Amino acid sequence: TVPGLVLNNSVTIPQLGFGVFQVPPAETQKAVEDALEAGYRHIDTAAAYRNESGVGAAIKASGIAREELFITTKLRNGEQGRAAAAFNHSRRELGLDVIDLYLIHWPVPSQGLFVDAWKALEKIHADGGTRAIGISNFLQDHLDTLLEFADVVPAVNQIELHPTFQQRELAAKSRSHGIAVEAYSPLGQGADLGSPTVAELAETHGVTPAQIVLAWHLGTGNIVIPKSVHPERIRQNLAAAALQLTPDELAAISALDAGTRLGADPAVASFSQM
Ligand code: A2P
Repeated sequence: TVPGLVLNNSVTIPQLGFGVFQVPPAETQKAVEDALEAGYRHIDTAAAYRNESGVGAAIKASGIAREELFITTKLRNGEQGRAAAAFNHSRRELGLDVIDLYLIHWPVPSQGLFVDAWKALEKIHADGGTRAIGISNFLQDHLDTLLEFADVVPAVNQIELHPTFQQRELAAKSRSHGIAVEAYSPLGQGADLGSPTVAELAETHGVTPAQIVLAWHLGTGNIVIPKSVHPERIRQNLAAAALQLTPDELAAISALDAGTRLGADPAVASFSQM
């Protein structure tokens, strides 16, 4: 019941997935098993999270057919100069031959390697290693530079995006190139759940604040990857896919933008952080 969103290369991604950023490696298999059991079919991890093997173990234990799953992982910053080897390592950790979506995790402009890394991802993609390739944390100028040299337009740009940090210009610019916007920290790491506007809408609909925020993401066209280690919240977040907000309700949440970034700034984030 999670809607599919068609990417610019005609591959369909489930619009709501389960994110494992900050899920401790030792808890990852259990959390992903709970998510798959609840009905999630899209899992978002990264080499930098050090929990790809837990994701792989959960996939294997689930017995779910490979073609029903959509798995994303990311190239870590220190490996932008050796993407092919890093990609093969991620495949082994995940126990998968084909990765559905492989992203450059951060541009790290100070390294000057993201265009080379993109060329390597294009090669991996052409060789059949991925169904789609994309980027994460690319700001407008990084995107401009990439598009100058790209043969394949990225399928997604995964960025920090939640009601109090919407990056509207960047999202619009990405979409104008056919690049889908994927929201990480979609609940503002939990901080946006305390908003009175969100609470009021939750009351009106008889749902939780997290479900309201997730329904806002889906209603505004974002791909969204909430994280939780609690089975009840994992289920609750998935159920948000059934909730539709009216245009006025969506607008009320869109009015909460405050420009409050919670994570690292991609203009300066370096590989030591990821
Ligand atoms: P926990 O893992 O303990 O459930 P984001 O996806 O924006 O990074 O937010 C994740 C944070 O929000 C985590 O701290 C997570 O905590 C919490 N969280 C996830 N789902 C819910 C929910 N349905 N209700 C309340 N808090 C949630």
